[in-house]
Amino acid sequence: MSKAERFTITAALPYANGPVHIGHLAGCYLPADIFSRYQRLRGRDVLFVCGSDEHGVPITIKAKNEGITPQQVVDKYHVIMKNAFEALGISFDIYSRTSAPIHHETASEFFRNLYQKGELIEKETLEFYDEEAGEFLADRYIVGTCPNCSFDGAYGDQCENCGKSLSPEELLNPRSKLSGAIPVKKSTRHYYLDLGKHQDEWLKDWIEGKKDQWKANVYGQCMSWMGEGENKLKPRAVTRDLKWGVPVPADIPDHEGKVLYVWFDAPIGYISATKDFFATAANKPNSVKGNSWEDYWGEDRSNLIHFIGKDNIVFHCIIFPAMLHAHGGLTLPENVPANEFLNLEGNKISTSRNWAVWLHEYLTEMPGREDELRYVLTANMPENKDNDFIWKYDGSDRTTDSYQAKVNNELVNNLGNFVNRVVVLTHKFFDGKVPESAAPSEDATMVSEKLSALKTSIEQNIENYQFRAALQDLLKISAFGNQYMQSHEPWKLIKTDAAKTAEVMNLCLQIAAEIAVFAEPFMPKAAHTMKKMLGLNPAAELWNHCGKGNLMAPGTPVAEPAHLFRRVDDAEMDAQLAKLAASKTQNATPETPEKNAVAPACAEIKYDDFIKNDIRVGTILEAERIPKADKLLKLTIDTGLDQRTILSGIAEHFAPEDIIGKQVCVLINLAPRKMRGFESQGMILMAEDAAGKLYFVNPEGVINNGSKVS
Ligand code: 2FM
Ligand code: ZN
Repeated sequence: MSKAERFTITAALPYANGPVHIGHLAGCYLPADIFSRYQRLRGRDVLFVCGSDEHGVPITIKAKNEGITPQQVVDKYHVIMKNAFEALGISFDIYSRTSAPIHHETASEFFRNLYQKGELIEKETLEFYDEEAGEFLADRYIVGTCPNCSFDGAYGDQCENCGKSLSPEELLNPRSKLSGAIPVKKSTRHYYLDLGKHQDEWLKDWIEGKKDQWKANVYGQCMSWMGEGENKLKPRAVTRDLKWGVPVPADIPDHEGKVLYVWFDAPIGYISATKDFFATAANKPNSVKGNSWEDYWGEDRSNLIHFIGKDNIVFHCIIFPAMLHAHGGLTLPENVPANEFLNLEGNKISTSRNWAVWLHEYLTEMPGREDELRYVLTANMPENKDNDFIWKYDGSDRTTDSYQAKVNNELVNNLGNFVNRVVVLTHKFFDGKVPESAAPSEDATMVSEKLSALKTSIEQNIENYQFRAALQDLLKISAFGNQYMQSHEPWKLIKTDAAKTAEVMNLCLQIAAEIAVFAEPFMPKAAHTMKKMLGLNPAAELWNHCGKGNLMAPGTPVAEPAHLFRRVDDAEMDAQLAKLAASKTQNATPETPEKNAVAPACAEIKYDDFIKNDIRVGTILEAERIPKADKLLKLTIDTGLDQRTILSGIAEHFAPEDIIGKQVCVLINLAPRKMRGFESQGMILMAEDAAGKLYFVNPEGVINNGSKVS
């Protein structure tokens, strides 16, 4: 197999300290699955790997809180996640785990390789240490008060209340999570990967070469990390003083009491999972055409595609590539199509606040509706910006993309209804067999042209990671089918023109058959049911025969109509909303009066004064910190008219990598101002609440840059 035909597809290894929710699915697992299924249907060589990420401090903390061992924690969640993924039809070739011996061996060997090549620098630093517990306090073992929002439960790496990234030094009143003791600084030695060296030698050039290929948000975030001078990538510690993890190999100096940093071992988990597949797979599927892990990881032998959420970009686009390159002989990612975040009913999904739809619960509460969830999540996938998941349709614009509206209007009324009507009428008028059609006819040409164009569009969209658009194409086929059938009304036509009715029904069956094939990446169970219903072999390789409108040979028997999708009623949606409401009540914190305080109104102005403000919608293309200016970010903004530099005082509120790709409102005719050696050519609009927290002011949905705001 040539490289062009071989795909190594990875989906981020989820932490085994909790179950999977819809945000994970829409962010990473569904796009990865759609892409993998599609490539298999095209006859390509695909290995799709994933597994549980079973190391890291949160797992040990959970174990401590629950009075069980870390292994018990990960054993529990590994099974829950594995089963839930399987039930949803996520078609991993292997779902492995990082506590497996094969992973420990692979990760240790990887570390040893880098050490022997001189790629790891050993450095002595002062770290927080708990004298009572006798342990160093990595990452999340330190809690304290957030300097940004005063939340008294912020972790040493992040405040979960306001989202700000922190370092342990920044916490006010730091204390150990192990004993509550006030930590002291103690010296320790760790191994570091010199990312700055890689940046200079090849990494920056390599990423710049991806400018037109990678999503703008991914590319922009990567570039924002690679500044010059003091903003260059810093050496990154790849070991930790912890007990739970992959031990630093015993032949490495100073290995005692140290494990590999979880973000060093986790991505190696993709390689271990591949090895695990070749060591354990009882029946290798036909779509896996290689014979060893090297076929999928050897340098330039495969297209490595990492599906992840945006919070993992730096690890997959910078750190893991640096590790792979330092190791040598391994392939680098071809693409990293990271998604943004999915919110739930207008709020950020939060595990700790139980503001989530958990997959394993959905599967038991709404049985038989796996494809419905896949459909709604794909239709609302946060591909280019954060998006919202809403359960119930209440007639408002806000809810037109809700689960209920999507299922009832698009799956039941459009796609399901078309396929069902075609099958019912075939039984009614043609004894349940595909009728002969007097081809070639004008209608047949029109149908095959339509199918061919939409097939090309689906393919291009999936290959460009535009899964929402590809799904819309599928719906366009069923809408076209409904329209075509409606325009001929075969139930009336049969009374006057049996031959034309046969032609119309033959073509409707061809449309339905292609829907069954194209639906497979998105809704595998419904696709299987449709194929069986239409007398197509579900295992046959049909994709490459589609686009012509001739999949179904005349005389092929069609089965009785089978149920595809069920209407969702208000009661089901109310039950889901009630569950969320219960989470909200449990987590409610009384609002402080200050938080609700509103600034007094300004003096009146005339309309003519207001319209002097030329405000446009723009997109943040680049964002970077400015040396020695804590408050300012330097933004490059596409205003629709030009690309310009704007300095904005938001650096304490937003990390540059999080805002790339965001649409904003820009005051473009503000007189330019010199700040810190740069000219700022405008201002972006922000809302500020009484607590001083900033929010972007942006349009609902993505609109053209340059659109006027008034
Ligand atoms: O963010 C997470 O859930 C991580 N466990 C992802 C790891 S991806 C890979 F590197 F393994
Ligand atoms: Zn905070």
